[in-house]
Amino acid sequence: MEQALGLSGLLTIDHSIKLLGHLVLVGLVFFFVRLYQVRIMFRRVRKEHGIPIMPHSFLFGHLWTTAKIAIKHKIPRDGNGHWMFHFIKLEYPEIAAPGVLYMDVWPIGYPMIAVYHPEIMAQFTQEHSLPKWWAQGQREFKHFTGGEDLVHLEGQEWKAARAMFNPGFSAKNLLSLIPNFMEEALVFRERLREAAVSGAVVKLENYTTDVTVDVVARAVLGTRLQTQTMSSKLMKAMQAQLSSIHLSLDLSKSLNPTRPIKNWFYNRTIRAELMSLIQQTVLNYEQLEGPKTVLALALRSYVEEKRHQGASSSGASPIPPEFLERVIKHIKIFMFAGHDTTATTLAYAYHLLSLNSKQAGKMRAEHDEVLGPDPAAAASRIAIDPTLLNSLPYTLAAIKETLRLFPPVGGTIRQSPPGHHLTHPHTRQRYPTHGFMLHSSVTTTARAPEFWPSPDAFMPERFLARDASDPLYPVRNVWRPFEMGPRACIGQELVTLELRLILALTVREFVVEEAYEEGAPVWFGTRAYQVETAEQAATAHVKGGMPVRVRVQG
Ligand code: HEM
Ligand SMILES: *[C@@H]1O[C@H](CO)[C@@H](O)[C@H](O)[C@H]1NC(C)=O
Ligand SMILES: *[C@@H]1O[C@H](CO)[C@@H](O)[C@H](O)[C@H]1NC(C)=O
Repeated sequence: MEQALGLSGLLTIDHSIKLLGHLVLVGLVFFFVRLYQVRIMFRRVRKEHGIPIMPHSFLFGHLWTTAKIAIKHKIPRDGNGHWMFHFIKLEYPEIAAPGVLYMDVWPIGYPMIAVYHPEIMAQFTQEHSLPKWWAQGQREFKHFTGGEDLVHLEGQEWKAARAMFNPGFSAKNLLSLIPNFMEEALVFRERLREAAVSGAVVKLENYTTDVTVDVVARAVLGTRLQTQTMSSKLMKAMQAQLSSIHLSLDLSKSLNPTRPIKNWFYNRTIRAELMSLIQQTVLNYEQLEGPKTVLALALRSYVEEKRHQGASSSGASPIPPEFLERVIKHIKIFMFAGHDTTATTLAYAYHLLSLNSKQAGKMRAEHDEVLGPDPAAAASRIAIDPTLLNSLPYTLAAIKETLRLFPPVGGTIRQSPPGHHLTHPHTRQRYPTHGFMLHSSVTTTARAPEFWPSPDAFMPERFLARDASDPLYPVRNVWRPFEMGPRACIGQELVTLELRLILALTVREFVVEEAYEEGAPVWFGTRAYQVETAEQAATAHVKGGMPVRVRVQG
């Protein structure tokens, strides 16, 4: 009996090993077939189209080539990946010069094309807006929204959603929300003041993240989340869920068996928290007076459209469930897109102002002139007349310059249909694109000397130049931290308005100086370089969360 059991046990083990062996074999076959296909695709670009590519190995593609560049240029391990294209361009200037560069880092990343030429970028974002690269919605944001959000939807569904949300993000509507944003901005100012009084080293990115979360919650939901003063269950769950996103091959994340379970729980928490906030708007939106949140305006346009379509307007069912299901995913993406990008931009703005006292002086002078000489009176002046924020051209230029030097998003990634190609505007060379991920390397062009005089210098004056006779005047289509064309950022007015408000309330009172430890690594001339962390892979962050000391100015 015992013997029989033992024997059958052995048999099954033997079977399992065989099965496993077969699976591994099948996996390997698939791997090598795909490897062959990808490598051939690149070889064809060179052979059949005469387009030069970087030194390419059949086994490693460009993995070796890019690894060597990383070593040679001392790219820190945590340095953000979007800067890689900048160094590739330095290392292979003649290949990069036309502005279209093929890069093969499969299986770590997708076969891709990095575009360095603003007019060629325009071909796939502005003249024709190609669909987003499939994996961004289907893989990376799979558990967050399943790709059913404003960043990732396509075609008619995207169009309808964009039209529904545009009114809420309009400049006029956002100005009407300034008194609400002000309350959050004043909490932030108080936190800076506390930091100045204590003299302690604080992580600026924490403070800026909290305030931008609180502002975007006011704009979208009309709620005070108060993440600046207490911890938020909603944001905790949201950040935990976002931390499982990975852009390139990350086996520890993609093979993690607990991932679906965790995501199920995050989904439940986020849904419950958001539902209760959304219900408020749904129940009251018709009575709501005064400033309108993004959600209230979206609901209004949804209901109007339904009425238009002849649906019963009896009001029997005030909460359309299909609206709720859809809107939750959009709100998740707004809360995500709306906080960390804006937060790092604000942190970099203080950083650049502390390093450039002349420019900081100009900004303070502008605030004195427009908002009155007493900084303590600025808040009430703006509250009375929010349009004053539209009269701060130097402050706005400094924000644009900050976004140029430290773009939180490295550019868009798009998908190209069969037969599609890009064309060089001068040489008319055609570049086949099908099968490759198309990427606009906004980061690289933003620091390119052929487009920007003194590309590494902080010079807000560039954005005040009036016309092309001024050597500082930006070349067309080069400044694109929000990307361009129909899929450009819907939140850009919110970003620059919010940052103008916060800077107007703080830069005359405080100087925020970096406080990295002795010997902290320097990259791109700063310790506050852009990093890519495993927890926040989707956007660039600041090294170490930007440790700073806050000083009272004067
Ligand atoms: C400094 C801050 C920000 C930067 C640098 C930024 C950048 C961008 C970029 C580059 C895109 C295009 C993405 C792509 O093509 O894949 C984009 C799209 C988008 N952004 Fe932002 N963004 C910022 C803030 C915001 C805010 C505050 C919100 C909303 C609350 C927001 C919501 C969106 C949405 C919904 C889209 C997709 C638009 C569409 O496809 O119709 N972003 N953003
Ligand atoms: C979480 O929610 C998103 C969006 O509704 C969905 O696409 C995803 O499949 C959900 N994930 C899990 C594990 O429930
Ligand atoms: C900043 O936030 C992180 C993550 O939320 C937290 O672990 C850290 O303690 C915070 N640091 C400071 C100085 O507040």
